[in-house]
Amino acid sequence: MPGLDHELEEEMKKFDETKAGVKGLVDSGVTKLPRMFKHPPEDLPSPNHNNGISNRQVPVIDLEDVEDSEMRSKIINDLRKAAEEWGFFQIVNHSVPLGVMDDVLKGIRRFHEQPQEAKEVWYSRDFTKKVNFVSNAEFKVSLPACWRDTLSCKVLEDEHNFEAIPEICRAEIKEYMKYLVQVKDKLSKLISESLGLSSDYLDNLRCFESRSLACHYYPVCPEPHLTLGGHKHSDLGFITLLLRASEGLQVLHQNVWIDIHPVEGALLANVSDMLQIITNGKFKSAEHRVIIPPTLDALTSIACFIGTDDLQKPYGPLKELISENNPPIYKEVVFGEYVKRYKL
Ligand code: OGA
Ligand code: NI
Repeated sequence: MPGLDHELEEEMKKFDETKAGVKGLVDSGVTKLPRMFKHPPEDLPSPNHNNGISNRQVPVIDLEDVEDSEMRSKIINDLRKAAEEWGFFQIVNHSVPLGVMDDVLKGIRRFHEQPQEAKEVWYSRDFTKKVNFVSNAEFKVSLPACWRDTLSCKVLEDEHNFEAIPEICRAEIKEYMKYLVQVKDKLSKLISESLGLSSDYLDNLRCFESRSLACHYYPVCPEPHLTLGGHKHSDLGFITLLLRASEGLQVLHQNVWIDIHPVEGALLANVSDMLQIITNGKFKSAEHRVIIPPTLDALTSIACFIGTDDLQKPYGPLKELISENNPPIYKEVVFGEYVKRYKL
């Protein structure tokens, strides 16, 4: 129905022009979900989506005694199993202080909850910018919009780029990243070892160099059962570290959506596409999505995408992991090209 699509297009255009995101809609007092946010029922969780299987949970990796050699082999085994079977895990005792995690989540909330005039100057669909605020980076009539706003901060391996972050949350992001870098360095070694490679292997390939943040805000929704906070997708880089203290994230495991219940103080981690490619499919890039739980308060999360800083370097299945019996199932991929396909 072309007429209707035109209406939808208009609705989306108007929404984008407000530069106020979903939070702005909520503040304007909407009591019904606007059409552009309505997802088809087959993409939404059924009311009893987790019946009978709610006891299944993503593995928890405890890094407490990671320097003890006996414990380290156990951690490496657990990590390998988690990456193979789930592509998703929680990390505890990662050494990012609880206060630092709380503060950065509060900082993100502050950004999204500041007055519209202060926030709209950051609103942009120019994704070459190092920092931008936008609702729904992917925006097209054929794709229902998601109930979230996002502040993106890119290329944070370059110290200068911290200065471009809005001041209202800059210090908190800086502090959080100081600790998160240590976690990703530890993980790079552990993942290398879990593949039977020397601990500096993935570092040398620059797989854990770049880091970008997506700082999401999920406002309270008048009809949460009709929309999603994030479409079903997998992440593009090597690994993602996600800070999210609340319900709403689901991972697709053996074709069933499993709710993730964050352990207090944990970081969530998921294998992303490039790691699946270089491990020749041994590690799974987990598909996940965000539902909007019927809460009384808005939710926040911060995804840190970790990957290569060499956008022209080809990455393919590692030669150490392939053999006559395990031939490469992927071609070499250049990350710069791979990302373009997703228009991020
Ligand atoms: C993402 C993502 C999940 C969340 O940004 O890629 O999956 O909980 N986020 O916000
Ligand atoms: Ni994701």
